[in-house]
Amino acid sequence: MNVVSEISGVSLPEMARTYGTPFYLYDSAVISDRVDQIQKRFPLVRYAQKANPHLAILDLMRKKGVLVDSVSAGEVHRALRAGYPAEEIVYTADVFDDRAVEMIKNHPIQVNCGSPDMIRQFAEIRPGGEVFLRINPGFGHGHSKKTDTGGPGSKHGIWHEEIPECVRLAKECGIRIYGLHMHIGSGSNFEHLSKVAHAMAETDAGPDIRVISAGGGLPIPYRETDQPIDLDKYFEVWDSQRKEIERRLGHEVEMEIEPGRFLVAESGYLVAKIWAIKETAAFKFYLVDTGFNHLIRPAMYGAYHKISMCSADGRKLEKSQPAAVAGPLCESCDVFTQEDGGVVITQELPQAQIGDYVIIHDAGAYGRAMASNYNTHPFPAEVWIEDGKHSLITPRQSFDEAIGGERFPG
Ligand SMILES: Cc1ncc(COP(=O)(O)O)c(C=O)c1O
Repeated sequence: MNVVSEISGVSLPEMARTYGTPFYLYDSAVISDRVDQIQKRFPLVRYAQKANPHLAILDLMRKKGVLVDSVSAGEVHRALRAGYPAEEIVYTADVFDDRAVEMIKNHPIQVNCGSPDMIRQFAEIRPGGEVFLRINPGFGHGHSKKTDTGGPGSKHGIWHEEIPECVRLAKECGIRIYGLHMHIGSGSNFEHLSKVAHAMAETDAGPDIRVISAGGGLPIPYRETDQPIDLDKYFEVWDSQRKEIERRLGHEVEMEIEPGRFLVAESGYLVAKIWAIKETAAFKFYLVDTGFNHLIRPAMYGAYHKISMCSADGRKLEKSQPAAVAGPLCESCDVFTQEDGGVVITQELPQAQIGDYVIIHDAGAYGRAMASNYNTHPFPAEVWIEDGKHSLITPRQSFDEAIGGERFPG
């Protein structure tokens, strides 16, 4: 039965009373542990900040020697604010925009091009510069169609058959291609991974390649029955192909890995309060004060997030029953317990009361990062746990902040 009353020795009801619900909670020790695990195998780790770009997380990553990936000018701005030197930041996006052009002109960040047009435009932004190419090898894989980033239906990367043309184009524009990048969707398995790594080794993008990036997509055990990823095997699959490229080119080639979820997902929780309990002919529902506006993965992909409960007054939560957990939004898909296609399911949950807390696990990645102000619910507070103490790293948004810079016309 899923009952949790503290995280890393810090009392959940105490934090709920201090910050109010809902709030996101990040356990920094878990992030440090995942960084250590991956740095033990991969010498160059780059954090895909899209998973969670909070300054506190970027600061921790930087201090631990992790490089950073940015998918927008705004994310480059964050990385600079977190103290990253521009040279340690990569811009990886499907397009430039006016703000990205300015950013690249003003800061010597690295650039990953995902189309021939980006190569042409980059040559104008930074004449004589050097780039990574993001490649679509012609196939993909993901835990859902929506996280599959390869194959003919994907907008990401340069189609593999266009690489020779891009090499010619780069030469013509005076641009050097020094890196290759593949990110073929999240939730990879080893058979698929080995296909991707082989495709990387077989890509001929000229003689100047010095770095390959294995992208992200390392899965985490969302379900209790899921096994943690075998990082040694993951490294071996990629490193054998890196060595192949070195042999072919006759010089040293470095390898980066670019995880988001793996580094931060398990550190995070979304904590909410139960405000209503109701039953239909099929389900018992716990209705809470957070919804897909704060964690969209279940509504978007039918993603599973383990749910626990905690009593507000120290009562022992005993009996359990299958129950669904849903939020406050005016949308029928605002349910945390659902499968792909919007089918409501249940989890085995304790019998709780109004005022007790619901803890949604593994919410550190793609939680706050994909949150919205839908229905004008303000963003929750964000709380950090380090060395057995909790502290506020983002106050709850006010109603006026949620309205933002809106004004009347004229
Ligand atoms: C280019 C790129 N790199 C890395 C990632 C991180 O993926 P994950 O969080 O699954 O590791 C993504 C996710 O979409 C991505 O698009």
